[in-house]
Amino acid sequence: MTDAPAVPGIDPEVLRRRALDALLAARERTALLTDSVDDDELTAQHSPLMSPLVWDLAHIGNQEELWLLRTVGGREAMRPEIDGLYDAFEHPRAARPSLPLLAPAEARTYASEVRSRALDLLEGAALHSGGRPLERAGFAFGMIAQHEQQHDETMLITHQLRAGPAALTAPEPPPPTGAAALPAEVLVPAGPFTMGTSTEPWALDNERPAHRREVAAFLLDTAPVTCGAYQRFIEDGGYTDARWWAPEGWAMVREHTLSAPLFWHRDAGQWLRRRFGVTEPVPADEPVLHVSWYEADAYARWAGRRLPTESEWEKAARHDPATGRSRRYPWGDEDPTADRANLGQRHLRPAAAGAYPAGRSASGAGQLIGDVWEWTSSDFLPYPGFAAFPYREYSEVFFGPAHKVLRGGSFAVDAVACRGTFRNWDLPVRRQIFSGFRTAKDA
Ligand code: AVJ
Ligand code: FE
Repeated sequence: MTDAPAVPGIDPEVLRRRALDALLAARERTALLTDSVDDDELTAQHSPLMSPLVWDLAHIGNQEELWLLRTVGGREAMRPEIDGLYDAFEHPRAARPSLPLLAPAEARTYASEVRSRALDLLEGAALHSGGRPLERAGFAFGMIAQHEQQHDETMLITHQLRAGPAALTAPEPPPPTGAAALPAEVLVPAGPFTMGTSTEPWALDNERPAHRREVAAFLLDTAPVTCGAYQRFIEDGGYTDARWWAPEGWAMVREHTLSAPLFWHRDAGQWLRRRFGVTEPVPADEPVLHVSWYEADAYARWAGRRLPTESEWEKAARHDPATGRSRRYPWGDEDPTADRANLGQRHLRPAAAGAYPAGRSASGAGQLIGDVWEWTSSDFLPYPGFAAFPYREYSEVFFGPAHKVLRGGSFAVDAVACRGTFRNWDLPVRRQIFSGFRTAKDA
């Protein structure tokens, strides 16, 4: 039982190249998301849940300046007067539009100046094992690329919430392969496995350290719950029966008169949804999206099942019974490719259940990485031996029962910010995020 060296001592020059590619790819995505709407739309608030896009843009630059230029590089602040504006803890999202934010042209210039200095710094950074912790293995550069990609997902959520015609387009994801022959669920036998990682170079603090967990035998859905299955819950009166709901979830349903996932509406007996400015029929075989933890939890209870715990999810995704070790991804240790997972905003929707046969885990479950973030039953808590790094505000201040863990990543997040150990979290009422779920059961 070891967390085997999935990424044994990688050559610093390989990491330097990887960091450069990750930073460039993130900026390309940021440009696409911010150049596809005009300046009025960049500075508007499309939902009180979200920042104006121009805030995300300058915040991306400001975090990069803080961690790469000032902390790693020891440089002076470029514009100390703006730090407070872009500190996520100083101003809640709803208050950000009324701040004296940098205008779109200024925000773009600032972010690109920071970037050109950061790339100079990367060229000479001490990425070898003797370097300082932030530089070692290019951690700070990888962390900043992940941070930008996380905000690129956030900005895609803003695009989804925005009214008006489509600003973004993308090709359709691949169809399912042999979905009819797939079993509905897989059995994961009882036994210990290694959760988390101590070797993945750019794993964030909350994914560390690797540790052993006992997991009892359980059954897990082979694919995420589909829109078609979720419609049966709705049609069976799921939203009008308190029996299925946690008390706080039932209160939410009553207060907001919820009757379907966010962005769905019924028209002449048919379910339609709005997706990036287009109204379309709800596709029956696609994983359900935009449900809160409470809705996922209620559906699971209605189905006579439950949400998987976070340990169950990770064991199903990573544990290889043949070797006893945990893999970086469901399919093995190799990085994600277009035939293994729907990631990186390549497609603007999840692929149908049964897609990506090359991405299946040793347990036989599919689409664990990509497509939809999957709610788990678990609270966001530190692993034994957790140490905040490099700042408490990334993970530590969010630990506790208020936040539920989501796993696996969505079509909207890039591979650099998604892996078998990656942990996301949110409030159980949130449903503007690209969230779905699968269900489990004791075996
Ligand atoms: C890990 C996705 C919950 O977006 O609030 C971005 C990531 N942290 N900037 C978030 C993050 C700081 C975070 N999540
Ligand atoms: Fe941020």
